[in-house]
Amino acid sequence: MKPETLAIHTPKRRYNGAVAPPIHMTTTFEHGAAANELTHDFLYVRHGAPNIRDLEERLAAMEGGAGCVAFSSGMAAAAAILATLNPGERIILHHDLYFDVKTLAKKDLPQRNIAVEFVDLTDQRAVEATLSKPAAMVWLESPTNPQLDVIDIAAIAKLADRVGAKVVVDSTFATPVLQQPITLGAHYVMHSATKYMGGHSDVQGGAVITRDAADAETLLESRILWGGALSPFNAWLISRGLQTLHCRMEKHCGNAAAVAEFLSDHKAIEKVCYPFLESDKGYAIARNQMRAGGGMLSIVVAGGREAAFAVASQFRLFLNATSLGGVESLVEHRASLEGPETKTPQGLLRLSVGLEHKDDLIDDLRQALDAL
Ligand SMILES: Cc1ncc(COP(=O)(O)O)c(C=O)c1O
Repeated sequence: MKPETLAIHTPKRRYNGAVAPPIHMTTTFEHGAAANELTHDFLYVRHGAPNIRDLEERLAAMEGGAGCVAFSSGMAAAAAILATLNPGERIILHHDLYFDVKTLAKKDLPQRNIAVEFVDLTDQRAVEATLSKPAAMVWLESPTNPQLDVIDIAAIAKLADRVGAKVVVDSTFATPVLQQPITLGAHYVMHSATKYMGGHSDVQGGAVITRDAADAETLLESRILWGGALSPFNAWLISRGLQTLHCRMEKHCGNAAAVAEFLSDHKAIEKVCYPFLESDKGYAIARNQMRAGGGMLSIVVAGGREAAFAVASQFRLFLNATSLGGVESLVEHRASLEGPETKTPQGLLRLSVGLEHKDDLIDDLRQALDAL
């Protein structure tokens, strides 16, 4: 079955016949005389609970994985995967990726004697060179945040396999509706559920779906011991969001494609990064591994940092706010959030295209750019 069907029909459990899952706001569950004698499937909320299990089962089914572990945020999910690395091992990360993950890898891993290497995974020769040496993990987003690079997941997975490296795909921008990295050879698929899955900018969560059941067990132990557990209410909200994810993604993608087309002809714009734009460098791979181009795009405004600020200050609909994947359109000057070490171009504005009418969004962009 397709991800949209699985989102709605997994799990099959019914609680007293309720069609919509009830919210189980309890931290603990009654058990037998011995504390490990479970009589109701669950022990304690950090270990697992009905709404959390519902979400995990839906996501594992949608991604085609053997298991899933939900976390309190995308960062908690990312940290749990990185925590599986051992001293002496080596991780390769694509050079364009979510800034907090980059910072975590740069700060934490060397202290644990883990070698960290940032590589352009769109460069075939660089990939072959870096994967000719032993590595434990390859980490990539596709499309990437914020430059929308598209990485050939199947090609990377094939090369990684030769050196025994596990491939992690942060698929937050794509969601399981647009691509399923496990079917392309990835070992872990990670999501910030705060974005499209929640879909309404009102809930934080994260999840990792694994190809192998044993990896999910390791991550569950990490959640239990490090404590990055999701609340049942947030799990319920994200599960609810998953059931309309495909409809929202269709509209996000349609709007973003229309916005990308409009912007690619505008004289104030140096570059539009959108995977399904024919002129985009990732177009061929994106067409091959994604069902649509997604709801995110980045533009590089001619005139650099000051011109980008001038545009960002003129919007009437696009809100200046971080995050993405909600119903409302957002704009963000990533370089100013990422600080002086950033490699993100100073003229870059990242757009999260929402569910408003595309004509209204294009009008807003037009008037903001015309004010330059
Ligand atoms: C691609 C990507 N991965 C991970 C994260 C972290 O997710 P969270 O904010 O839910 O911790 C984000 C957040 O913006 C993101 O954009």
